[in-house]
Amino acid sequence: MGFKGSPNGVVAISFFTVVCLVMAGVSYGATFTEQFDAFSSDGYHVQVAPDGQEAKIVLDQVAASGFGSKNQYLFGNISMKIKLVPGDSAGTVTAYYLSSAQPAHDELDFEFLGNASGQPYVLQTNVFANGVGGREQRINLWFDPSADFHSYGVLWNKNQIIFTVDDKPIRLYKNSEDLGVAYPKSKPMGLYASLWNGDQWATEGGLIKLNWTHAPFIVSFKEFSTLDGCVVTNNDITPCTATTTHWWEASAFQTINRNQAEQILWVKENYEVYDYCKDTKRYTTEPVECSRNVPLL
Ligand SMILES: *[C@@H]1O[C@H](CO)[C@@H](O)[C@H](O)[C@H]1NC(C)=O
Repeated sequence: MGFKGSPNGVVAISFFTVVCLVMAGVSYGATFTEQFDAFSSDGYHVQVAPDGQEAKIVLDQVAASGFGSKNQYLFGNISMKIKLVPGDSAGTVTAYYLSSAQPAHDELDFEFLGNASGQPYVLQTNVFANGVGGREQRINLWFDPSADFHSYGVLWNKNQIIFTVDDKPIRLYKNSEDLGVAYPKSKPMGLYASLWNGDQWATEGGLIKLNWTHAPFIVSFKEFSTLDGCVVTNNDITPCTATTTHWWEASAFQTINRNQAEQILWVKENYEVYDYCKDTKRYTTEPVECSRNVPLL
């Protein structure tokens, strides 16, 4: 009795709370269910580990599936670890992206285009602003992304977007509103992942088809705590746009440093297989934002 008013009771509760928070921080991050809603409820096409620290999505002839974040973000450093479909993944596409609501949506994309066993995966990134995309860059990764988990993310603020792999920058996309190019900076985006049959176009331009005898195709995700973005609530973006309290707004994150520039150029020189900026069939003159997105040393 008297629990509510008892000073000892209050102390006991707060001590217990602190212990729980410490345990949560040290040994466990956010669970899948805390951060995401699965797009399938059959218990098979989205599978969550009992401790909530890992999730798998399964593609077979019955269904494709995926999941989406409960929160909507505007700016931040948002990443997750992914282990891609191993073996013969030709024709499969693992999409992992931030997207705002339609129409005239903003979107930041990672798309992993599967391949025959032993052949390199292509990672395609793209940026949409106000419904306009067409800014694909494709690279081969310098490791086998199906052998282990690697982190993929974006550092996104008012001035630039940096796509990262294992925290290394692979692509820079600067705000070019001064050149008349729309930039994603006012529409909150959710984080989504899906695995689907893209064999009309994905692997060698659609030549290599998905082989269903190798199904089910499975991609795994973990580290659901690294969605470090400004969460938009009640459609009010002001706390995300009008403050200077978020670490990614600091001056160090408004431009890239020399190491980051070197890393991006290393990827471009050694691993890039397609760049919309150089596709003169699609763009007879180079899109105006292109030159400033190639870092200078
Ligand atoms: C698949 O492997 C082939 C052969 O190495 C390569 O040319 C191609 O770019 C790879 N990726 C895709 C998505 O086709």
